[in-house]
Parts: sequence; structure tokens; C-alpha cells
Amino acid sequence: MTPATLIDTFGRQHRDLRLSLTDKCNLRCTYCMPEDFAAWTPQAKLLTRHELVRVVRTAVDLGITSVRLTGGEPLLHPEVVEIVRDIAQLPNAPAISLTSNGLLLAQLAKPLREAGLQRINISLDTLDARRFAQITKRDRLAEVLAGIAAAEEAGIRPIKINTVLMRGVNESEAGDLLRFAIASGWSLRFIEQMPLDAGGVWSRATMVTAEETLAALKSEFELTPHGVRGSAPAEEFLVDSGPATVGIIASVTKPFCGNCDRLRVTADGQVRNCLFARSESDLRGILRDAKLTEDQRTSAIAEVLGLSVRAKLQGHGIGDPLFLQPIRPMSAIGG
Ligand code: 5AD
Ligand code: SF4
Repeated sequence: MTPATLIDTFGRQHRDLRLSLTDKCNLRCTYCMPEDFAAWTPQAKLLTRHELVRVVRTAVDLGITSVRLTGGEPLLHPEVVEIVRDIAQLPNAPAISLTSNGLLLAQLAKPLREAGLQRINISLDTLDARRFAQITKRDRLAEVLAGIAAAEEAGIRPIKINTVLMRGVNESEAGDLLRFAIASGWSLRFIEQMPLDAGGVWSRATMVTAEETLAALKSEFELTPHGVRGSAPAEEFLVDSGPATVGIIASVTKPFCGNCDRLRVTADGQVRNCLFARSESDLRGILRDAKLTEDQRTSAIAEVLGLSVRAKLQGHGIGDPLFLQPIRPMSAIGG
């Protein structure tokens, strides 16, 4: 039986699909990947452009209205522009956004925009080149800044910047980052570091909490709560009476699982109903099963997506003493 919509047992309707295009990355952010990470997914297991779009087509028929392309670094996929164009041309095309580290945007922002990319989130944890190299293990801050400028030039709006603050690393930079973001017209969001690194370096004690970030910002700016959160993970604040805002994403200390409408598909075709899910459901086998007719394939994809949604737990349980970190790193799951 094909379920008509992606509603879980807690009544949450899923409308947002996070589709990872690759687990590879050209940076090695400490909170995501160990520097010597080598457990890449073999190319043959990665979904092809056609397979990725095939999954999106069925997901849209089930009520998905927005698709975010993630990674690893999604711009490393050689056909990322074509994938955006294919998705934009689907009947009932979803809104398309992308999360990137910005490195390749200088070349790709314009073609992506022309292909139908509407929104972008770019990671930026520091404005200091040496600190950037310390956090990402690559000396490439200038390319990221050039990439952000190219996204602006191409007319991609809004430009959202994601920052993960780390104790003793970049926590002192919150105010400077916010001032720079406001002056540049970017919308900045601070994200609490989550236990998703393959190296297992996360600890609650070293994580900078949303409350600490807010306290630091309040010593420099006037912050006023702003708007409703809905299914958006960020709590928004007006900065110095606006119009500029800042977002705080308290993924760990104030989970927003109750409003979660997100479903994830990894680059190797596994459905995950949560970043922290302990199990996955396979779509790759269905996509590659030559015995299926196209209609059978559609039903089978729909069934797996529906079953995964209905198996979704109420929350991620990071605070639970029995919490176990996912086996795969963020780069293999897709932000
Ligand atoms: N905790 C919080 N955010 C993370 N990101 C990657 N790993 C983590 C983590 N462990 C963020 C990146 C990027 C987005 C894909 O997710 O900063 O902006
Ligand atoms: Fe790459 Fe993003 Fe992970 Fe940094 S956080 S290593 S940019 S995938």
C-alpha cells in the first residue's frame, strides 16, 4: 500500500527532505570529520544524478515541499548544477536550497542560481585565517569569503551563515562574526555543536551552549525575541531593534524535535528519519532493481519513505544517559 503523506505517529507531517549528494569534503572541520578520515563511500554505492532526482520525484508526490542538498560538501558532486535543474523542473517542484562550505561557490553560484537554486546556507566559524585553518585543517578562508560574495552577486537570498562556536577556539568571536554578518547583509545563526563527529571529540562540557552564546551577545547587542519558530530550528532575535536578526539553534540543550518535519537520504541511498537515527532504510536496492517496473519502483520508494517516517522516535535523546552517537559521521549523514 502506498501511503499518501509522510505523517509520523506523533502527527508530524514531513515536508523537508535533506538529500546528501556526497560524503566527500574539501575541509576537515573538527566537529565533523577527523583530519585523517578515509572511510569514504565507494563511488559505485553513491546514487547517480538520475537516482537522486528519482527519489525527490516520489518524495514530492508524498508531500515534500522543500529539498535541501547537503553533503559532505554538495558542490563536490560533478553534476550538482544539473541536479538542481532537474529538481526545479519536476512537476510541483519543491523549493531548493543547499548547505555548503562555500569553497566552490565562486565558480558555481551563478550557474546554480540559473538552474533554480533559491537559498543557501554557508558554514563560517571564524573571520581569522589562522583560526580557520585550525578549525578546518585547510588554509582556505579567502575562498569561502569569495564564494559568499559570489552567492550575493548571483542574487541567491537569503544568505544564511552557520557558525559552530567551540570553547577555547572561536567562542570569543561571536560578537565580531555577528557585526560582520550584519554589515554584509547575511543572516547569521549559531548552532550548538552536536555529537556527530567521526572522531568522537564531542563532550557536553566543552560545547558552547545557546545560553552562553546569548549571554555573550547580550553583552554587546540588544537582543529581542522575534517571530515564531514553527518547524524552523533557529530561535530568532532582533539585533539592536532590527531589522538585522540573529538565530540561535539549540539543537542539544533545547531540542526542537517536536516540530521536526525533516527526512534525510544519504548519498548512498539510505533513508534516515533523524540525524541521530540508529537505523536506516535502503532505497538504493529499489532504485537499482532491474526487475521492477517504474510504477512498482515508485510504490516501493514511497513505502520505504512512509515506513521510515512512521518509525520515527519522538526525539533524539542526546540528554538520555543511554544516548548513543550515530555510527556514521555528519559528513556521511548529511547536514
Ligand atoms: N554540530 C553542529 N553543527 C554541525 N555541522 C556539522 N557538524 C556539526 C556538528 N557536529 C554544521 C556545519 C554546517 C552544517 C552542514 O552543519 O557547520 O553548517
Ligand atoms: Fe566539510 Fe561541512 Fe563537515 Fe566541515 S562541516 S568537514 S565543511 S562536511
